[in-house]
Amino acid sequence: MLAGRPVARIGYGAMQLPGPGVLGPPRDRAVALAVLRRAVGLGVNHIDTAQFYGPDVANELIHAALHPYPEDLVLVTKVGAERDGQGGWIRAQRPHELRAGVEANLRSLDVERIDVVNLRLLGAEHDHGDRALPVDLDSQLAEMIALRAEGKIGGIGISSVNMDQLRQALPAGIACVQNAYSLIDRAGEPLLDLCREHDVAWVPYFPLGSAFAGLAKVTEHPAVVAAAAAQGATPAQVGLAWLLAHEPHILLIPGTSSLEHLDENVATADVRLDVATMAVLDVLAVAGGRR
Ligand SMILES: NC(=O)c1ccc[n+]([C@@H]2O[C@H](COP(=O)([O-])OP(=O)(O)OC[C@H]3O[C@@H](n4cnc5c(N)ncnc54)[C@H](OP(=O)(O)O)[C@@H]3O)[C@@H](O)[C@H]2O)c1
Repeated sequence: MLAGRPVARIGYGAMQLPGPGVLGPPRDRAVALAVLRRAVGLGVNHIDTAQFYGPDVANELIHAALHPYPEDLVLVTKVGAERDGQGGWIRAQRPHELRAGVEANLRSLDVERIDVVNLRLLGAEHDHGDRALPVDLDSQLAEMIALRAEGKIGGIGISSVNMDQLRQALPAGIACVQNAYSLIDRAGEPLLDLCREHDVAWVPYFPLGSAFAGLAKVTEHPAVVAAAAAQGATPAQVGLAWLLAHEPHILLIPGTSSLEHLDENVATADVRLDVATMAVLDVLAVAGGRR
């Protein structure tokens, strides 16, 4: 369940649809639209997006491909950032900026209410002037609660949180947490435990290690490659199947710009990792010192 709506455990993340660096139009618009339509055709009913993907590209593609939206589709977006002229990620963390972000998503997705909006916390390290000033989490949560009370958003998520921030946010009624997490990056494990205790969905971003250079890729880890060969699956399926088996509160939103990868990712629902394989994979992050 996600904010009271039933969703398939394998959803879709739209961040790979814009051009390289999450900037500008897709390499091939027809393929981008086809990926979105095929995802829904395959039973995906949970799509993650953001106005700042492109910017303004992912939401436009979702609207073009899928509007009017299927009744069971749960659209999830996030607020808290904007892009600068060079594509840099800048903070838009102040309450009025969160509200403006929700309004922009409502317009571009052409809906009266967004099912779930993540408050994407973003550090001040790259910003200057007003934008770099600290913003009080309680004032941000109050704005999100007001937006929910006004019916503009169905549920509140929170993203890139630490343990203290999550504890502070839980009384607001949190539907989901989006933090980076994967088979090879399990730093978020204590937060995942807290989400389980509070029946909050854990929706990891970078479930395959992301498209960004410099971040380790799940599909390239030798133990994952070996497990895939032994199980008759692909490395991506092993990484995603491990997440599904690790914890029932995990919902997946792998990102892809490719029809072939989409098919593979959705087919993970039929991949079962045996006990011995799970045992090997369970300790990978520990062995790598990253848990
Ligand atoms: N809350 C946040 O701050 C936040 C941050 C980042 C992302 N997100 C969300 O989380 C979603 C997932 O994260 P992500 O897209 O950054 O990273 P990801 O899902 O970990 O990985 C995407 C990368 O994996 C590749 N890939 C996908 N399926 C594959 C397969 N079957 N075999 C081999 N490679 C495959 C993609 O390339 P191809 O395009 O070639 O398939 C792309 O390079 C995003 O799409 C976005 O919606 C949220």
